[in-house]
Amino acid sequence: MEYLDKAEFQEKMQEKTAAIEAILQETLPKGDSLQRTIFHAMDYSVMGGGKRIRPMLLGEAYRLFTEEEDEMVAVFMTALEMIHTYSLVHDDLPAMDNDDYRRGRETTHKVFGEDMGILAGDALLNYAYETAVQGVANAKHGERAVAALLVLAKKAGVYGMVGGQVVDVEMTGKPLRAEQVEFIYCLKTGALLEASLLIGAILGGADQAALARMEEIGRLVGLAFQIQDDILDVTGNTEELGKPAHSDEKNAKTTFVSLHGLEASAKAVKEYSDRALEILDSLPGQNPYLNTLIRMLTNRKK
Ligand code: FPP
Ligand code: MG
Repeated sequence: MEYLDKAEFQEKMQEKTAAIEAILQETLPKGDSLQRTIFHAMDYSVMGGGKRIRPMLLGEAYRLFTEEEDEMVAVFMTALEMIHTYSLVHDDLPAMDNDDYRRGRETTHKVFGEDMGILAGDALLNYAYETAVQGVANAKHGERAVAALLVLAKKAGVYGMVGGQVVDVEMTGKPLRAEQVEFIYCLKTGALLEASLLIGAILGGADQAALARMEEIGRLVGLAFQIQDDILDVTGNTEELGKPAHSDEKNAKTTFVSLHGLEASAKAVKEYSDRALEILDSLPGQNPYLNTLIRMLTNRKK
């Protein structure tokens, strides 16, 4: 399996991140009308850094299957990142994790107030679908676009991210069994990563067998990603993470790390990500940048 060296990977990553941020900036609502506070809160939430992993995975998954250009890729990248951002804004609210910092600065509700924090999340969620449906209406490959939209809605909803968050919130402060922790991770974190890879593949014209593999890669990357998040919550510091370290302990959360310890957790991250790379290798297309990205995600420090 082919990987990029560090310098080439970082250069490409910067270019791709900048391209994604330009699309996000262009798509966000603007104007000086009476409801402008919500425009500012949306902009603050979306444009405040972030690794842009989900749109990046979407774009790279697409490239595995086709060389054609399709505007739907940018449309779904935007919608996905807006949904991801709304989930962070709501997750940080006092009623949920009650965190004051994210991406190295104050959370949306700290800056704009709790009311606007709630509304900014709602607005981003609605605007994501507004953007996606508008795109789908003009799609060259209409059927693919509709299938991608359904995946987005399902993976973000009660069978995906929202479902995982419900169990996470309900079980906070209670002891959990390993299968329950895995369920939460697969849904609250894995579902959007599955959506990223699946949507890219669907738009690229992948067949059912390839889609099943992409979904499994997303599940494995999601598990590895969330366990790494738990590890960093214990071993990282607030400055490096850009969000409060030891948030899980503060919120009395049972995590993979609290159940299995740091060493076993690091081993699990490596196993899940190696398995994801193996499946990726079994697909016909080649994308060394994507291989390197998946490897990097599970070695990340923030
Ligand atoms: C960090 O992503 C986010 C996660 C590891 C996912 C945690 C799951 C939730 C917050 C679900 C919340 C759901 C609802 C419905 C409120 P990242 O490291 O990619 O963050 P970045 O974009 O800042 O880089
Ligand atoms: Mg949380």
